[in-house]
Amino acid sequence: MPNLSTSYLGLELKNPIIVASSGLTDSVEKIKELEENGAAAVVLKSIFEEEIVMEMDEQMLNMTSRPYIYPETFDYMSNEPEEDLVRKYLRLIKEAKAAVSIPIIASINCVSSQKWTYLAREIEKAGADALEINFFVLPTDLNRSVDENENIYYEVLKAVKEQVALPVSLKISPYHSNLAHMVKKLDDSGAAGVVMFNRFYSPDIDIHNLSLNTGQVLSGADDFKNTLRWVGILRDRVKCSIAATTGIHSSESIIKQLLAGADAVQLASIIYKEGAGYIDTLTKEIYSWMEEQGFENLRDFQGKLSQDKSNDPAAFERVQFMKHFRNFVM
Ligand SMILES: Cc1cc2nc3c(=O)[nH]c(=O)nc-3n(C[C@H](O)[C@H](O)[C@H](O)COP(=O)(O)O)c2cc1C
Repeated sequence: MPNLSTSYLGLELKNPIIVASSGLTDSVEKIKELEENGAAAVVLKSIFEEEIVMEMDEQMLNMTSRPYIYPETFDYMSNEPEEDLVRKYLRLIKEAKAAVSIPIIASINCVSSQKWTYLAREIEKAGADALEINFFVLPTDLNRSVDENENIYYEVLKAVKEQVALPVSLKISPYHSNLAHMVKKLDDSGAAGVVMFNRFYSPDIDIHNLSLNTGQVLSGADDFKNTLRWVGILRDRVKCSIAATTGIHSSESIIKQLLAGADAVQLASIIYKEGAGYIDTLTKEIYSWMEEQGFENLRDFQGKLSQDKSNDPAAFERVQFMKHFRNFVM
């Protein structure tokens, strides 16, 4: 039987399939089921800095309509919901660690380097094997420079690394003006890994009701290619781990990401669609492909087609269709 083990964030994984941060990983029961079906690790549903703050603001807003509330009560209330969510999250880490043997990666979704970084220490104490930081602010402020926008990433990483010895990874978006440079700088600043790329909520427009509504929540099977490009380009330029995510729906797309140089993949949408049992199907299909190709270990082919190692490195950087457009006929 071929050996699927891989190393990610310094953790030894039995195979490259990690269940991505989502509602799929928000309870011990679900995590146990994922492990039983072959998941090599899970990233817990994120605890959201924004969500906590919003919840606190809402409570405060409700209270202002009551004339008998004293200002000290605000201090009390503004702390309580945060502690509640935090306590629940830390309990989930502890209970999950006790219930399964696969690595548990905690996840914080944040919008600043303020206030919450103490939580990283608590997460480490609770027993998490690593911490993934999902940080993104859409750069819509016309008066902020690229540096101002991007320095926050390094500040967050630094602030968290000062609190913990845990491996810390950054889940990033493709929307950066100088992506390769940024990933290199995160790598040099001690990120144990990068997760490329987060999938975002996108607005859509309902043309019948003339209103805004939610775009599609789950990814499609063709959405993996931008990640593939950047995994290939960055593989031999950074030393940190790379996890590929978004639109990875089949054993074929997992194998492609591994060939481009990913250490692991993170799946959410396809597990929502097909259920936990699909992980077992995926690993069996990877086994068959490896046998067919004569690979005994995952490491035998990981990164074999990265930009530096492939026979057509320019293909990773080709963005215009040129001759394809010229010859294209319907
Ligand atoms: C319903 C749903 C909930 C998600 N929640 C989170 C989250 O809490 N934190 C996070 O970092 N990513 C979250 N994600 C993003 C996933 O972790 C994943 O990176 C993204 O969906 C791309 O992978 P996919 O194409 O396999 O879905 C969520 C995705 C979905 C579909």
